[in-house]
Amino acid sequence: MTATLFTPYKLNDTLTLNNKIIMAPLTRCMADDNLVPTATMAAYYARRADAGLIISEATIIRPDGQGYVNTPGLYTQAQIEGWKVVTKAVHDKGGKIFAQLWHTGRVAHPFFFGEQNGEVISASNIGIEGTIPRNRELTYQQPKAATQADIAQLVSDYATAASNAIEAGFDGVEIHGANGYLIDQFLHYSCNNRTDEYGEIPENMARFAVEVVDAIIAAIGSDRTAIRLSPGAYFNMEPNQGDRAVFDTLLKQLETRHLAFIHLGIFDDAMEFDYLGGTASRYLRQQYHQTLVGVGSYTAETGSKAIANNQFDLLAIGRAFIANPDYVTRVRDGLELTAYDDAMLAELV
Ligand code: FNR
Repeated sequence: MTATLFTPYKLNDTLTLNNKIIMAPLTRCMADDNLVPTATMAAYYARRADAGLIISEATIIRPDGQGYVNTPGLYTQAQIEGWKVVTKAVHDKGGKIFAQLWHTGRVAHPFFFGEQNGEVISASNIGIEGTIPRNRELTYQQPKAATQADIAQLVSDYATAASNAIEAGFDGVEIHGANGYLIDQFLHYSCNNRTDEYGEIPENMARFAVEVVDAIIAAIGSDRTAIRLSPGAYFNMEPNQGDRAVFDTLLKQLETRHLAFIHLGIFDDAMEFDYLGGTASRYLRQQYHQTLVGVGSYTAETGSKAIANNQFDLLAIGRAFIANPDYVTRVRDGLELTAYDDAMLAELV
């Protein structure tokens, strides 16, 4: 029943995956205090190298993108060297790995990067309520709306991080455009009230995402560039009926870029969004006709069925990969899986 997962999948002329199981990006907060990946992280990823593709935990492109403790970066030489150990360990075991490039936007906090190193920035000066997971004493700040000069710098910094990822040995990058972080903050009306060419109408709301995509394509090529998107607002984000038109426009533009894939960002793909006319994966399939990675509380069985029903092409698995380093083998051999528990986040097994 899960046999479909174990056939190779050609993303493009550059990359063919050994199977259709993708390890979803999973933040683990285990980089060292210079945000350099450790040898323990290399071993953790290498144990999962039989996934068709690993997507790294979200990795910040510059200091002011940090919103959680000890998340790795890709902007210093030491970070690049640390990632080289990780990518080599995965490649030595026959695997492939993309870096997920991240800026948290209004979810960032100067506690991590220091007031002197920047401000919290977002599409607009609209903040989120609440406190930071794992640092509950910190409350979110009101962000500064990015100026056009800030935006140009961000686009350039994303491209530099992508080049750094290639230098570090990654097979490609996934732009983190999902889950309510910086790029997503431009794509939803609840947090973008700009009136310049980055706001107000769908073409403008999509512009920052497209500029980041194009800058990264120029740096490393479209075959090695992917993006994760959350057309359904579900995390640190309020839904708005107008959002659908923004994603309609964005997906039409992305289709002409011939990316490696688009990856849905969601925790449970059973969730329906009225303004999308159903689930987010269904919406993406209707609007976008190239390779799509599905995710969100799937098992190997339900995910295989979804692929067979043409809901998406590749299946990303998150929490089960934390609980089962040998997830691929267990599924292939029909062995029982260990159930995921949040307590497992304390350690890199
Ligand atoms: C996540 N998720 C996530 N998503 C992302 O795009 N970048 C990230 O760094 C993280 N980090 C992260 C950490 C932890 C501990 C969890 C549980 C989740 C979301 C993840 O990639 C995936 O979309 C969800 O976990 C849903 O898939 P599963 O777990 O139902 O297979």
